[in-house]
Amino acid sequence: MDSHDDYVTVAQVDQIPPGTCRTVEVDGIFLALCNVDGTFRAVDNTCPHAGGPLGEGCLDGDLIECPWHGWRFNVQTGQRPENPEIRVACVEVRVEGQNVQVKVPLTL
Ligand code: FES
Repeated sequence: MDSHDDYVTVAQVDQIPPGTCRTVEVDGIFLALCNVDGTFRAVDNTCPHAGGPLGEGCLDGDLIECPWHGWRFNVQTGQRPENPEIRVACVEVRVEGQNVQVKVPLTL
């Protein structure tokens, strides 16, 4: 393979306190970036129900709740607890110093 994985910075650690999430954008793709008790996770921002913005929802433990109709997704697995067949894509995240970075290219 001649391609290699790379990471881009999408936020600073202190912008997303534990227990919160926000929407970030990478190359025109929106992600919900979550801080689960100090561990950062990222999933596709678009709710599979009707396209709601997950990054504008609430985080409860490792579950993010869509602000539109309340569907919840586990941000570690992408699965909906009530129906694991329904899921959002997860993106690899790492922290470098104060930088929260996601792996690109995104494979959503
Ligand atoms: S769009 Fe997310 S629950 Fe309906």
